[in-house]
Amino acid sequence: MRIFMDTANIEDIRRGVAMGVVDGVTTNPSLVAQEGVEYRDRVLEICEVVQGPVSAECISETADELVEEARRIASWNEHVVVKIPMTEAGLGAIKRVSAEGIKVNTTLIFSPNQALLAARAGATYVSPFIGRLNDAGHDGMAVVRESVQIFEAFHLPTQVLAASIRLPRDVTEAALAGSHVSTIPASVLFQMVKHPLTDSGIERFLADAKKYTPV
Ligand code: E4P
Repeated sequence: MRIFMDTANIEDIRRGVAMGVVDGVTTNPSLVAQEGVEYRDRVLEICEVVQGPVSAECISETADELVEEARRIASWNEHVVVKIPMTEAGLGAIKRVSAEGIKVNTTLIFSPNQALLAARAGATYVSPFIGRLNDAGHDGMAVVRESVQIFEAFHLPTQVLAASIRLPRDVTEAALAGSHVSTIPASVLFQMVKHPLTDSGIERFLADAKKYTPV
């Protein structure tokens, strides 16, 4: 499973990239708004740092406007993946821009049927929102699992990108469900590195290492 960071914070992205485990980044208007920067500037900065797929969201509502916006955003950098929301207009736009070779991440996926439609329209990624589904009393991971199953059964090349991750355990479960990618908030990614037994193990080894002459 590939690992993306779900953030627009450039320092956190630099830290994740330095760890050597970050394959890409997803942003959305809410994440960029928190940073107080211009959208295009930040997306380009992220592309420079990550050198992998960077999702940038379209905010238009009609198919024609979405197509135009997707073309414009995709032209910013070769790493840009345009995020298009799961609507009727969105599907039409996905079909058109995917045919032009633009990579699309279909966002706001809440059911396997929505994932199937986006895949048939030609999306590169579909993003089921695990946390928001769980918050609403549904089983978020079931949407990931069933979408993976459907794509495998029909050899659809679209990748499932588990989004709206809230806990390290969500990442484990997304991997077990066969998700191709998980997009992970910075705090969760950094938490995944840690284990109290690792910390106490290092402490003990360092203390014991003082008992002999260092090489
Ligand atoms: C992913 O692409 C979305 O931006 C993100 O995962 C949404 O997560 P949230 O439900 O925590 O806002």
